[in-house]
Amino acid sequence: MNKKLRLGVLVSGRGTNLQAIIDSINEGKLLAEIVIVISDNPKAMALERAKIANIPTAYVKPGKKSEFEREIIRILEENKVNLIVLAGFMRILSADFVSRFPLRIINIHPSLLPSFPGLEAQRQALEYGVKITGCTVHFVNEIVDGGPIILQEAVPVYDDDTVESLSARILEKEHKILVEAIRLFGENRLKVVGRRVFIDKEGIDQCL
Ligand code: GRF
Repeated sequence: MNKKLRLGVLVSGRGTNLQAIIDSINEGKLLAEIVIVISDNPKAMALERAKIANIPTAYVKPGKKSEFEREIIRILEENKVNLIVLAGFMRILSADFVSRFPLRIINIHPSLLPSFPGLEAQRQALEYGVKITGCTVHFVNEIVDGGPIILQEAVPVYDDDTVESLSARILEKEHKILVEAIRLFGENRLKVVGRRVFIDKEGIDQCL
């Protein structure tokens, strides 16, 4: 039997990815519990979404980076989180933070990495002129948007796309692969070898 995953979700804004996780759990499609939602932005709509779902929240005021991160670590450890999900968290975590949770932090990014890392990935894709872009869920390491890739989904770029229309098309896929990656992690099916993440057909528990 797989143990129920204890998720800590870090957010900064709108929170549609957080909502996708909440909905999947509530619909019984994801065996996990969001034990804490942490934000660096007290006005994040994501915090409202968490409150409506009766999920505990914490606002950590950004200040000195080391203190800010120490407080986030304290809250995550206090809540015995086993997977940290960056769902639209707009700050770069230090190498120290990341090394504390090796292969225990995942991020959703709105491009097919390694293309278009960093901010405004959808705008970057449009301006570059690619015909296909998409989204990526990856483990977080010390390189921004550079960790081992878990899942990707491709999305076409149309001639009449705007940043908004393209972002909306990508977002639908983000919600899907983020939930799927959490599910695979929870089922202990992700095996990382160097940069490559292999997905076991069956969870380790079921194989034993
Ligand atoms: C998403 O596009 C995600 O890929 C990026 O930030 C955005 C967050 O959206 N990292 P939301 O707050 O989950 O709606």
